[in-house]
Amino acid sequence: MMPFRIAIRTNLHRIKDLELNIIAPSHGPVHNKPDFILNAYKDWASDDVKNEVIIPYISMHGSTKEMVDYFAEALIERGITVKQFNLSEPDIGKLAMAFLDAATVVIGSPTVLVGPHPKVAYAAYLANALRPKLRFASIIGSYGWGSRMVEQLAGMITNLKVELLDPVVAKGVPSEEVFKALDRLADEIENKHKELGIIIE
Ligand SMILES: Cc1cc2nc3c(=O)[nH]c(=O)nc-3n(C[C@H](O)[C@H](O)[C@H](O)COP(=O)(O)O)c2cc1C
Repeated sequence: MMPFRIAIRTNLHRIKDLELNIIAPSHGPVHNKPDFILNAYKDWASDDVKNEVIIPYISMHGSTKEMVDYFAEALIERGITVKQFNLSEPDIGKLAMAFLDAATVVIGSPTVLVGPHPKVAYAAYLANALRPKLRFASIIGSYGWGSRMVEQLAGMITNLKVELLDPVVAKGVPSEEVFKALDRLADEIENKHKELGIIIE
């Protein structure tokens, strides 16, 4: 339902004065406690986002993983909830659910044949199709000799109405400079979440 938030809001408004005892949708379970599911729909269809960063990633040789682990710690230290998804063992349903109300996604990918790893491209495709209410996005990852991974990934998520924050890319194993850049990205996300009022100080 994520791509249909606007239509759902319109329809929720349309039925707001009805006294409902039961909701029997054309597919899925029958709801005999209508308020529960109606409140859930109101929440899902709203523009409200949570103080959460989703990090779908994959790493072939460990460099992107080192960056993701460091970055996740940096975000947690700043009071942000982190949901990491290792795409080599994906539960794509859980990833889709996490997209429901997170404020930010940071995609982690090594470079494979100049672009993102194919499993990361799949996750980016899913996010783009679901059009979740994300506000910010960034990309981190590693390459060996020549990469268009960031440009290609950014081109795959154009449905997302997000502000793209500066990516952080390492040549091979991440250096001290890369870790500092990850700290800066974590600072920026913290500030953006504060501006949205979703980090309570
Ligand atoms: C199958 C394969 C294809 C790759 N293609 C590229 C490439 O096109 N350009 C590049 O810069 N590096 C390429 N690399 C190198 C990786 O991007 C590089 O080793 C990176 O540091 C791996 O990150 P990881 O440790 O997170 O897997 C390739 C590596 C593999 C295994």
